Amino acid sequence: PVSQALAGQHWLITAGPTREAIDPVRFLSNNSSGKMGYAIAKAAQRMGAKVTLVSGPVSIDVPAGVSRVAVVTAEQMEQAVMQQVSDADVFVACAAVADYKPAAIAEQKIKKNAKTMEIKLIKNPDILQQVGALKNKPLCIGFAAETENVEYYAKDKLQRKNLDMICANNVAKKDIGFDSEENELVLYCKNGDSVALDQNAKYTIASDLVSEIKNRFF
Ligand code: C5P
Repeated sequence: PVSQALAGQHWLITAGPTREAIDPVRFLSNNSSGKMGYAIAKAAQRMGAKVTLVSGPVSIDVPAGVSRVAVVTAEQMEQAVMQQVSDADVFVACAAVADYKPAAIAEQKIKKNAKTMEIKLIKNPDILQQVGALKNKPLCIGFAAETENVEYYAKDKLQRKNLDMICANNVAKKDIGFDSEENELVLYCKNGDSVALDQNAKYTIASDLVSEIKNRFF
């Protein structure tokens, strides 16, 4: 650590996409690279926190001093988070969890015989909403990746998921968000405050976010 600003705190962070199997060789997923979540984990660790990173499949090295729990599906991510959450002071949900998963996983590879095919999807658990509903919940920070009505949807999630802060990014903007090196965020707090973190490298945005959380809530 380069500072002890977060010494004694345990930060639980989710990152990356989840994968939901269709058959033994196929899955549903999304474009999340995990870069933002990993940058937050690194920033919190460098400020002295104990950091647990629950990560979907990504190709990034674990930051030094961070303990990673590797998962694949939303259900596995939910289990890993629920196992750790009672010990966490801060929960940052940065993962792009698949909202739906196939209702059934085909046992064998699906053959391309039919001209059309349908996959029935069912809803995955909402991990952040579950944590936000806990009686002894940690400080809860969510993300809202939106392509339109960013502020409206972000504030809706802040309320609905019972969060302390939500970090909104407009993933329709070029050069920021999914799989890019830079990001820009607007933070909306439970008390009505908002803070803009202008476009910058993901690690810079992550450090500013972690400092903002520390200064506001601790
Ligand atoms: O997918 P949605 O826009 O609702 O995501 C908002 C926030 O909720 C994000 O912080 C995301 O990590 C979290 N989330 C979750 N479990 C889900 C869906 C979203 O923890 N199944």
